[in-house]
Amino acid sequence: MKRDATGSSTDRRRFGTSRVGHATARAGVTAKTTWHRTRRLADRLVTDRRLGIATAGHIPLARLGLDHPERVSYEPSGWRTLRLVLAAEEVDHDDVFIDIGAGKGRVVLEAATYYDFRRVIGVELSPELARVAQANVSAMSGHRHVDVEMIIADATQGVFPDDVTVIFLYNPFRGVLFDRFMTTVIASLDRRPRRVRVVYRSPFEHERLLETGRFRLVRQHCPLRPSAKMRETGSVRLYETHQTATRGREQPKR
Ligand SMILES: C[S@@+](CC[C@H](N)C(=O)[O-])C[C@H]1O[C@@H](n2cnc3c(N)ncnc32)[C@H](O)[C@@H]1O
Repeated sequence: MKRDATGSSTDRRRFGTSRVGHATARAGVTAKTTWHRTRRLADRLVTDRRLGIATAGHIPLARLGLDHPERVSYEPSGWRTLRLVLAAEEVDHDDVFIDIGAGKGRVVLEAATYYDFRRVIGVELSPELARVAQANVSAMSGHRHVDVEMIIADATQGVFPDDVTVIFLYNPFRGVLFDRFMTTVIASLDRRPRRVRVVYRSPFEHERLLETGRFRLVRQHCPLRPSAKMRETGSVRLYETHQTATRGREQPKR
């Protein structure tokens, strides 16, 4: 089953068979489509052009030969997504940021420009998208405080880096793939107990994240959108490790 970045296809409501039900459903779809089109156009015409980069647009993973029922296609976050729940003052130079499914690099650029992270890493499955991200990173060298390391990899496999303290997720994958990724994060927490924050946009796997027993919800931002469903799917949440996750052995930051 195909999904857009909000994962809407799996969470689609079953509408009743009455005419009113169909009309309401159509109105909701129209509002959503119009809202997304307007946002993409604004991105392309205003911000991307002003910065001389290319981050806008929706790119289905099928077009990149990477289709999978639990992976989500490319769709950029808003330009201020990270700052909606994480203030610059809450980050210091010991913190290391990673965007899981970094796409064309919009959020790694936000992290490298507005925060004092020691390292900023983007992991992206698609070599094509990662190349665009790398070009965007180069084009914004005059704006960044720190370089951005783009890594082409499947984030659900391999070893999660033990120095990462802030994880960004814009709903890159769901279900079993999400669990697999969280297993790598928890293995890292066990190797090196520490405070880790997760910024999760469109947090479809909120329950799975809490079920790990390692994270708690700290705060969330719910945007103004045409429908309640869109407000929910467009929300951004900040989680952090429980004190117990570090078992009182939190190590000093390097
Ligand atoms: C919704 S986009 C988010 C892009 C970017 N993080 C942002 O917020 O602008 C999700 C991204 O996750 C990537 N992705 C999906 N599965 C992945 C995986 N297993 N490993 C790495 N990246 C993945 C997709 O290629 C896509 O670029």
